[in-house]
Amino acid sequence: MEVLVLGAGAREHALAWRLARDEGVRRVRIAPGNGGTPACAGTVPELDPTDPAAVARHVSRERYDLVVIGPDAVVAAGVADALEGIAPTFGPTRAAGRVEWSKAFCKEVLRRAGVATAASVSLRGPGDADLGAWERPPVVKADWLAAGKGVVVPETHDEAAAAVRDLFASAPDGGTVLLEECLVGREVSAFALVADEHVVPLGAAVDHKRLRDGDAGPNTGGMGAYAPVPWFGMPELEAAAEAIFAPVAWRLARDGTPYRGVLYAGLMLTDAGPMVLELNARFGDPEAQVLLPLLDGDLSAALLGVATGDRGAAEGSVTLGAGAAVGVVVASEGYPDAPVRGRAIGGVEPAGADDDGELLCFHAGTRRSGSGYETSGGRAVTMVGRAADIAAARNAAYRGVAGVELAGGQHRSDIGLQEVEA
Ligand code: AMP
Ligand code: GLY
Repeated sequence: MEVLVLGAGAREHALAWRLARDEGVRRVRIAPGNGGTPACAGTVPELDPTDPAAVARHVSRERYDLVVIGPDAVVAAGVADALEGIAPTFGPTRAAGRVEWSKAFCKEVLRRAGVATAASVSLRGPGDADLGAWERPPVVKADWLAAGKGVVVPETHDEAAAAVRDLFASAPDGGTVLLEECLVGREVSAFALVADEHVVPLGAAVDHKRLRDGDAGPNTGGMGAYAPVPWFGMPELEAAAEAIFAPVAWRLARDGTPYRGVLYAGLMLTDAGPMVLELNARFGDPEAQVLLPLLDGDLSAALLGVATGDRGAAEGSVTLGAGAAVGVVVASEGYPDAPVRGRAIGGVEPAGADDDGELLCFHAGTRRSGSGYETSGGRAVTMVGRAADIAAARNAAYRGVAGVELAGGQHRSDIGLQEVEA
């Protein structure tokens, strides 16, 4: 099988790395890839993965057996639509992927599917916000792809009002803003493969979204993750498949926009049970970097099964294996607001195993520079430890982090710590 992965982050590096390990995969290429991806895949650096026509031309010419979409921007650009009839594509059409790129649509689907989610209202302009009607300050969300910066969890009603004003000030034409009931509980990212109305639970992970230790500092794309989640294992995931993923998949299929790809539910485990915070039309980043190394079996067969609607292949090909993985992001100085690019970064060669476990290094914002690497983005690399349990996987990951040489580099030192101390 020849596979093309679309994207440039550590999630896509992990996808390419994991697919390249499958026996049935002869070659993996990644477009555009990053500084680290040549270690496991051929790169197509000149191809813009968010340009559907360009991707369709490239795929027609190169005749891939499978195309795997990484980021939401590629979904929202309609690349799966452009590849219809050209190559089997893992990743939803623009219409099905709307569950991610429109929060109002996501809410509508959840409501019609009967899935538990926070109460919300959609605002057309700043004047629509009746904050006095909310007993506790509501969460304020931009209803457009805001690259992780579209959600404000205010402490006071005044902060909520300011967030509404600020978001509308930066809204694209016709952009709406959502006010949502603030939920309290533990957060977990749950993943399932979805092939039309068929759902295959894959695994869950915990992401650490704030920049600094102890969940302090600004929200980021994610500073680290671990899997499996001791308090959200296969029984809980199967319950979520039944109560959340299956009704959503069924609803989308019934509405004429069947979903083929991985569906990611951001869940809040409240006293009243799991409630959906958001749906995403892709793997999480950094969740993918810890889940993919734990998958046993034939990932390419599973993804091809999803892409072609072959339920048996989608269901029978991969399982979450034993052991644990912890991923720690090393980010550039200034991330998330103004990351410094073009700085030398060392200690980021694909790593090996030692007594602690295996160490993997997935690149994101790096590029080759002379015989080494330099930064080209905010989150530079994810160092992943894989071992028998979370404590050992943490040791392996932090051994990798200690070896990263990056002036001003930032990382959290408490990824997965709550599980070791629990
Ligand atoms: P999102 O960008 O939608 O993943 O939201 C970013 C973060 O905001 C989430 O990971 C939650 O921690 C928080 N959040 C979003 N919606 C809610 C909500 N309704 N109640 C409480 N926290 C929320
Ligand atoms: N890790 C959060 C996300 O991928 O959206």
